[in-house]
Amino acid sequence: MPGLTLTGWGKGLPERVVTNDELSRTLDTSDEWIAERTGIRERRVGGSASTLGLAAARAALGVANVEPAGIDAILLATTTPDRLIPATAPLIQEALGAQCPAVDLNAACSGFMYGLWIARGLLATGSKRILLIGAEHLSRWVDWDDRAMAVLFGDGAGAVVLESTDDRGDLLGFDVGSDGSLMHLISCEHGGTIQMDGKETFRRAVRIMVDSAQRALKDASLSIEDVALVVPHQANQRIIQAACDRLGVDIDRAVSVIDRYGNTSSASIPLALVVALDEGRIKPGDVLLLTGFGAGMTWASAVLRWPG
Ligand code: ACO
Repeated sequence: MPGLTLTGWGKGLPERVVTNDELSRTLDTSDEWIAERTGIRERRVGGSASTLGLAAARAALGVANVEPAGIDAILLATTTPDRLIPATAPLIQEALGAQCPAVDLNAACSGFMYGLWIARGLLATGSKRILLIGAEHLSRWVDWDDRAMAVLFGDGAGAVVLESTDDRGDLLGFDVGSDGSLMHLISCEHGGTIQMDGKETFRRAVRIMVDSAQRALKDASLSIEDVALVVPHQANQRIIQAACDRLGVDIDRAVSVIDRYGNTSSASIPLALVVALDEGRIKPGDVLLLTGFGAGMTWASAVLRWPG
């Protein structure tokens, strides 16, 4: 069966930076509380799923040196599409000038990882090249008067180009799952704002992420000692720390960009990956462990060997 490899990556971010101090001017909160409880210092706000996703997509195609005509499918992971109908992915397809199927998928913060899972299937059954984007405009769905929610989220996008290989490829192991009985933990009704039982989500998230990561490692027949870098979902620095402790991996081997971008849901894992690449933290042959969880609840983990 053909495998997959990753040939391009890019990010898209709004220019506007909103610091904790700025939020503290209108909310009963402080930089100290937010940084200590979440690790977040600032977030980006603005744009839309289509504009941020398009910027990330263009950057990823540039790195892969691929023309839009060479893409077989566009998968956009987002919980915050520009509108209910039509989906946002066709807007990106049109703006890029690509001629291929384009579809949105929503698995909350696990969306990008679900996209990877679906892309793997498409590449194994004949597609040659897929553009996978995670893009979010969460600031539109946040109650900016609710200090418990307003401090957590940010806007942004990350994208990758995935290509089929004749051999096993670089996706070495995978785990994916959902449990709809936990839907009450994080939700957003039509016309509403994001609601969350933070404490219970926190408690579940660590266990879910660690269990999923271990299943993906087992699927790859590897152990945590083989992993050069963990790229976790960026929901809370304390969740990242607790997950690393339980996995038995030093926090220095985990990517954290939550201080500058907050929780960007579907965009958080690709954004963290792209920043790690920009900072030269990933070398050819490195084994990466990508792991995330989100509303649903959903979860997914992947063991990826960095190509080259
Ligand atoms: N500033 C100051 N005080 C605050 C703030 C704030 N921004 N927010 C809450 N507080 C107060 C609360 O009112 C509470 O006060 P009280 O004790 O007088 O009632 C106190 O701080 C403690 O609040 P908790 O909610 O218990 O704080 P906690 O330590 O649990 O941190 C947090 C809250 C950061 C939300 C944490 O629970 C968390 O990160 N949960 C997981 C979130 C997550 O993983 N989300 C991912 C999914 S999102 C998605 O899928 C779209």
